[in-house]
Amino acid sequence: MANWEADPQELDSAGAGGSIIRDLSSRATEDDAGLDRSLRPQYLREYLGQERVKDNLTVLIEAAKARGEALDHLLFSGPPGLGKTTMAGVVANELGVSFKVTSGPAIERAGDLAAILTNLERGDVLFIDEIHRLNRAVEEVLYPAMEDFMLDIIIGKGPAARSIRLDLSPFTLVGATTRTGLLTGPLRDRFGIAFRLDYYLPEELQEIVQRSATLLGVGIDSEGALEIARRSRGTPRLANRLLKRVRDYAEVRAGGQVSPAVASEALSFFEVDTLGLDTMDNKILDILTLTFAGAPVGLSTLSSALGEDPDSVEEVYEPYLLQQGLIKRTPKGRVATPRAFEHRGLPPNPGTDATQTRIEGM
Ligand SMILES: Nc1ncnc2c1ncn2[C@@H]1O[C@H](COP(=O)(O)OP(=O)(O)O)[C@@H](O)[C@H]1O
Ligand SMILES: [Mg+2]
Repeated sequence: MANWEADPQELDSAGAGGSIIRDLSSRATEDDAGLDRSLRPQYLREYLGQERVKDNLTVLIEAAKARGEALDHLLFSGPPGLGKTTMAGVVANELGVSFKVTSGPAIERAGDLAAILTNLERGDVLFIDEIHRLNRAVEEVLYPAMEDFMLDIIIGKGPAARSIRLDLSPFTLVGATTRTGLLTGPLRDRFGIAFRLDYYLPEELQEIVQRSATLLGVGIDSEGALEIARRSRGTPRLANRLLKRVRDYAEVRAGGQVSPAVASEALSFFEVDTLGLDTMDNKILDILTLTFAGAPVGLSTLSSALGEDPDSVEEVYEPYLLQQGLIKRTPKGRVATPRAFEHRGLPPNPGTDATQTRIEGM
């Protein structure tokens, strides 16, 4: 099992991704994984944005420390790159306890989890990334562990098998998921507190870019940082990645200093979408604007057109497009808004309102 020194990203990174903005979810390049690690905030005061979550956590952490008890189990959900793993580490640091990292798919057998749990010390934070991907047998071991700090283990096989209970040290489980919809009810119920992380505002990302630039020794002014922030899809991981590309460009073409013009030039050079949309986002917009010409598209149809499962479409890809007012959910299905047509460089929706009104009026 990894500890905080190891990069949690490595657990699910499956190789290099080509596009700068694609594969936000998991497939960072090795370089990007290192970047994530070096820029990752360690304490609440370095963690920018998500004010409501931080306020709540501050109180919970203070209270747990004052009582000398383990903090309640926490669940962080939200799209990739918004700071779930980071926040889990911050919680451990603020509590002054060790941080143990694993992930749903990494725990294959009940015995693997038992080994992890029996190694925890009082108050430790155990972080399980992608917790929706735990298998059944493993999940069942987790229930009594979370609830009563007990471990039930079966020894032997067949008629000679017997079950023994072991006491565990009280610990805090922090789970992270991009897909709350896939969490089983019993597991969800065992978390004392659940937080959903939201996309960051451009001003918040601007601060994040400036903090990262300082850490990386990049000369950038606040307007340059804002230009990167605006094209980062509300996502800190992407903001950091774009900053690094802009730095490369600035070093080669502009003497290293990142002004707004240089930032903008660099981002266009690397073909970063002006709204920071990634390939999947644009594919969704293409389906809605071109393939279905603006007509409402049901979630299952959209998902099969994308070759993705409906859950990830709904929980990972759509939220940003909704937030940006590029798509709408209607009772009849998803529709592209005029802004989406404009963004794709298309004339205003040919297939909807105007035509329909005309037909109805005939
Ligand atoms: N609130 C924040 N303030 C500053 N940097 C952040 C913040 N949230 C995330 N980051 C940066 O973005 C990177 C990705 O965050 P991470 O916690 O790995 O996202 P998630 O686990 O939600 O996919 C981190 O390594 C960190 O550098
Ligand atoms: Mg993570």
